[in-house]
Amino acid sequence: MSATNQNGAVKFLLTFAFLIATTVSLPSSPDRFLKSALTSLRSPDEPQEYEELRRPLPSDGLTPSCSHVLLRHSFGNTIDGPPYTAPYTPPSGCTSPPWSYVVLDLRAASSGDQYDRISGLWLGGVELLRTSTAEPNPTGIFWNVRKDVSRYSSLFMRSDLNVTMMLENIVNDVYTGIYHINVTLIFYEFNPIEQNPKIRSRLEIAGSDRKDQTPADLIIPVCDGGNRGFWFMIENPAETYSKRIQIPSNTRKIVLELYVSFHGNDEFWYSNPPNSYIRTNNLATGRGNGAYREVLVKIDGRYVGSEVPFPVMFTGGINPLFWEPVVAIGAFNLPSYDMDLTPFLGLLLDGKSHEFALSVNDGISYWLVDANLHLWLDHGSSNVEAGSGRYDSPSRHMVRQEEFEQLDGSFRVEAEVRSEFDGWVKSSEGNLTTMVKSMIKVGSLVRFEKNGAYKRVEQRVKTKRIVEVTSESGKPVNRVVHQRTYPLTVITSTLRGLTNDKDMYLLVTNVSHALNERFSAGEALTQVFNRQDSDGWMEVEDHNVLAGEASTRQSFNYIDDLSCYSRTLVAANGKISQDSSSDACASSS
Ligand SMILES: *[C@@H]1O[C@H](CO)[C@@H](O)[C@H](O)[C@H]1NC(C)=O
Ligand SMILES: *[C@@H]1O[C@H](CO)[C@@H](O)[C@H](O)[C@H]1NC(C)=O
Ligand SMILES: *[C@@H]1O[C@H](CO)[C@@H](O)[C@H](O)[C@H]1NC(C)=O
Ligand SMILES: *[C@@H]1O[C@H](CO)[C@@H](O)[C@H](O)[C@H]1NC(C)=O
Repeated sequence: MSATNQNGAVKFLLTFAFLIATTVSLPSSPDRFLKSALTSLRSPDEPQEYEELRRPLPSDGLTPSCSHVLLRHSFGNTIDGPPYTAPYTPPSGCTSPPWSYVVLDLRAASSGDQYDRISGLWLGGVELLRTSTAEPNPTGIFWNVRKDVSRYSSLFMRSDLNVTMMLENIVNDVYTGIYHINVTLIFYEFNPIEQNPKIRSRLEIAGSDRKDQTPADLIIPVCDGGNRGFWFMIENPAETYSKRIQIPSNTRKIVLELYVSFHGNDEFWYSNPPNSYIRTNNLATGRGNGAYREVLVKIDGRYVGSEVPFPVMFTGGINPLFWEPVVAIGAFNLPSYDMDLTPFLGLLLDGKSHEFALSVNDGISYWLVDANLHLWLDHGSSNVEAGSGRYDSPSRHMVRQEEFEQLDGSFRVEAEVRSEFDGWVKSSEGNLTTMVKSMIKVGSLVRFEKNGAYKRVEQRVKTKRIVEVTSESGKPVNRVVHQRTYPLTVITSTLRGLTNDKDMYLLVTNVSHALNERFSAGEALTQVFNRQDSDGWMEVEDHNVLAGEASTRQSFNYIDDLSCYSRTLVAANGKISQDSSSDACASSS
C-alpha cells in the first residue's frame, strides 16, 4: 500500500485499524460456550438425565448371557496426561465364544461446572467408541450410551489387550466437573437379529451374503502409539499420519472403518470463511481455510477413499441451551465411516507391509482421526490370490466463489468427488470380483450481512457408496448401497449494546440439521431419518452464558422391511416438554 506522509491520513488509517481491532471479533461466528452461570441459577432439585435419541437396540428386551465391566474411572484433571489404561480380560462364566451380539454400555455422571470434552475408547488400539460429554450443572447430570459392538467380537476373546480411554479434562477452581465413567460389555448368547424368523426368512429371500454380515476375523488399528490416546492429532493440511501394516496372506475381504472428530479452530469448520476475508478485515481468528474439509485415506501414497464427515455439534457448541437434555445428533455416539478396500487386495497380499495414511484436506488445528481395518480371512486356505482391476484417480470437481466487501459477503463451495475401483480375489469361495463406487457431493454457503453481525451457513452433503460382488461368470453375488445425506443450516445474529462491555452481547441463533441414511443389502432396505430444529437466544459474556431461552424439536424415524420406530420430542429450556414414540409402521404393505 502507498505510504502517506500526511499526518491526517495516517491518523485516519490508525483509527480505522483500531476500530476494526476492537469491534470486530465477530461473535456471530459459531463458538463454544459454558452454560454454568445460567444453569446454576436454574438449579434443578435432582440429577437430570441427558440423552441422544436413538432406536432401541434389538437386544434391549433380552436377557444377556453375561456382562463384563470394561472400566470404571473418574476423569478429573487429566489434561496433558496419559489416557486411562488397564489390562483387558475376556469375560468368564459366559457361554463360550464366539458371541454373536455384544453391546457396549457407557454410563456417565458429572456435577459442577465443566466444558464438553471429547473422548475415545480403544481395545488393543482398536477404537470402539468416539463420544463427547454433556456440560454438567451443580445438581448433577447423568447419561447412558449403548452401542452395538458385535463387529468387534474377535477382540473380546483376547487376553493380550489393554483397554484405553482418553478424556482430557481440566479441574480447578473454575471448572469443577469431574466425569465419572463406567463402561460394561454385555454379551448375548444368540444374535437377536438372526433369531427373528421373519428377519431370517427375509434375508434368505434377499439372498444377502450371510458371511459378510458376520464380524471380521481380525481387526488391525491404523493408529498412533497410545501415549496420548490412539488417535492421530492432525493440525494442518500438510500433516499425514501413517502406519505400516502387513495383511495376512489369506485375507479375502478388508474394510476400513474411519473415526473422526474436529476441535479447536476447526470445531465449526463448515462455517469457516476463507483466509482472504480474515486477512482483509484484520480479524483476530484462527478459524479460516474456508468451509470444505475432506478426510483422505491413502495406501502407499495412493488415494483409496475419502469422507466429508457429518458435522457433529458438541454440547457447548453454537448455543449450549439447544443441547439440554437432548444432545445433538451423534454427540454421544459419533458416526464412523466404512470404506471397502477389497479391490486393493491385489496390492496388499504380497507378504510385505504397506503404508496406510490419514490426512485432512484444508484441516486446521485440530482433528482427531484413526481407523480400524476389519479383515475377513479364508478359513479354507492359507493363501488367497488377488489382482487389481480398475483404478482411476478420483475425479474431482471443485468450484469456490467468494465475494465480500469489508465484513459482508458470501462464500460458496461446490464439490464433487467420484471414484471407482475393482479387483478380484480368488479364495476357497471362488474367484469373486468386488467393485466399489463412491460419490461425495457438497454444496456450501457462508454469508455475512449487517456488517458481519448476521451469519448464515448452509451445507448440503450427500455421499453414496456402492459395493458390488460378482462371480467369475459375471453372476451378481451381493450388492450393498449406503447413502447418507446431511443438510445443515446455522443462522446467527449478534446484537450488541446491552451494556458498554465489549465482551457482552446477545446471540440469536437457529440451527437445523439432519442425518439421513439409506442402506440396502440385496433387497433388504433400512432407512433412518433424524432431524433437529433449534432456535433461541442467549446473553453471553466472554464464553459464559448469562441468560437465555432455547428449544429443540427432534424427529427420528427408522424403517426396515420388518419394523419401524419413530420418536418425536421437544426440549425447551432444559426440559423435555413433549415426547412421543411408536413402533407402528405408518402404512403396512
Ligand atoms: C459406576 O459403578 C459403580 C459401582 O457399581 C457405581 O457406584 C457408580 O454409581 C457407577 N457410576 C456411574 C456413572 O454409573
Ligand atoms: C498395557 O499397558 C501397560 C501399562 O501402560 C503396558 O506396560 C503394556 O505394555 C500394555 N500392554 C499391551 C499389550 O499393550
Ligand atoms: C479371476 O477373475 C478375473 C476376472 O473375472 C480374472 O481376470 C482373473 O484372472 C481370475 N483369476 C484367477 C486366478 O483365475
Ligand atoms: C428461526 O426459528 C424461528 C422458530 O422456528 C423462526 O420463527 C424464525 O423465522 C427463524 N429465523 C430465521 C432467520 O430463519
